[in-house]
Amino acid sequence: MPFTANRAFKAAPRLLQRAKGMWYWDVDNRPILDATAGLWCVNAGHCRSEIHQAIMEQSRTLDFAPTFQMGHPLPFQFARRLIQHTPVGLEHVFFTNSGSESVDTALKIALAYHHAHGEVERILFIGREKAYHGVGFGGISVGGLPNNRAAFANRLLTDHLPHTLDLEHNAFSRGMPSYGIEKADALHELIRKHGAERIAAVIVEPVAGSAGVIVPPVGYLQRLRDICTAHGILLIFDEVITGFGRLGTPFASNFFGVVPDIMTTAKGLTNAAVPMGAVFVSEWIYDDIIKNAVQPIELFHGYTYSGHPLACAAGLAALQIYENEGLLTRGTGLAIPFEEMVHSLRDQPNVIDIRNLGLMAAIELQPKPGAPGIRGMEVMKLAFEQGLLLRVTGDIIALSPPLIIEEEHMSQIQQKLVKILQVVS
Ligand SMILES: Cc1ncc(COP(=O)(O)O)c(C=O)c1O
Repeated sequence: MPFTANRAFKAAPRLLQRAKGMWYWDVDNRPILDATAGLWCVNAGHCRSEIHQAIMEQSRTLDFAPTFQMGHPLPFQFARRLIQHTPVGLEHVFFTNSGSESVDTALKIALAYHHAHGEVERILFIGREKAYHGVGFGGISVGGLPNNRAAFANRLLTDHLPHTLDLEHNAFSRGMPSYGIEKADALHELIRKHGAERIAAVIVEPVAGSAGVIVPPVGYLQRLRDICTAHGILLIFDEVITGFGRLGTPFASNFFGVVPDIMTTAKGLTNAAVPMGAVFVSEWIYDDIIKNAVQPIELFHGYTYSGHPLACAAGLAALQIYENEGLLTRGTGLAIPFEEMVHSLRDQPNVIDIRNLGLMAAIELQPKPGAPGIRGMEVMKLAFEQGLLLRVTGDIIALSPPLIIEEEHMSQIQQKLVKILQVVS
């Protein structure tokens, strides 16, 4: 099973059977409030009938069509709809099937771009400590979570920026922490170490999700942007989690006012009803690759299921819901009550930090002496028993509810968490 303690799970499985709106029901028919939008992905809530209908109709009309030297209208239609919401300039789309594939695709597009210019030495990527970019060899190379790499030696050429989590200065920050912009200056050091002419791209999650919601310090992303621009290094934002309304804006890029050259997405793209990812690429990168290509096929890359009809149908229906219900910006109005709710847990036992932005938050717990991760695991298991779906990473509880959340759900999450934290203490 993916990222699961198999032996423990099989001894005591947690099995979900059905879902609707903000809720799951397990195989014993117990309701479980979804405080994580599945896995940061069911942004419009579960089992939306419009998406179900669109998938059914599409499966009747065109189940599959090859997209190698061939096509069908849906990916083009979906791409045109999507770029009405992306930051200006990110106007070309390459469809994948997951966040991991989006990341590997983005890294390859970066290399292809430099190659198209004859800058063939630019093959090194800069990631960041604690980053999660999926599980492809590209993603684990630029990723910064040691466990994800330990057993897999063959990797891309990379180096890493320091992460920006700093409990000493920033604990219990609300929104963007004020301390730490200078962590971006580590990019200057990496440029001195490797030479700008060898660096293809810098990739970061605008807000690191999987490592426990690490919000960037004020000004940090803009500084990265400026350094990249000054040295001809591409900037990639991995918006697999932050895309599609998580911060109260369509993308994190809109929230921070910083536009990357390439942006990766997945998850909320189809409301997770059908697996799909999308990589958004700047016009000038696309143009350069296409114009400078010496072969008829300009980019030797693609997946059998790129632009799959059912995924496009689900994505178009999800986007229609996001637009109709204003979900891509709904988080703006909910961010303050959500922030109040999570920070009200500050005095609960073992809480050493709470951090939040938009509809993402983390509650970090003091690890048990000599047993990191055990307290977090206990919280997750107890929460499930108490009817609350949480994501934990080590001893950090992450919250990222569906964007349809109401204040009554927030109160329920808060009340359940108080009970759980009291018991786990
Ligand atoms: C920022 C980021 N990038 C990439 C991925 C990988 O996505 P997937 O699991 O769909 O391959 C994730 C998954 O959580 C992610 O959070």
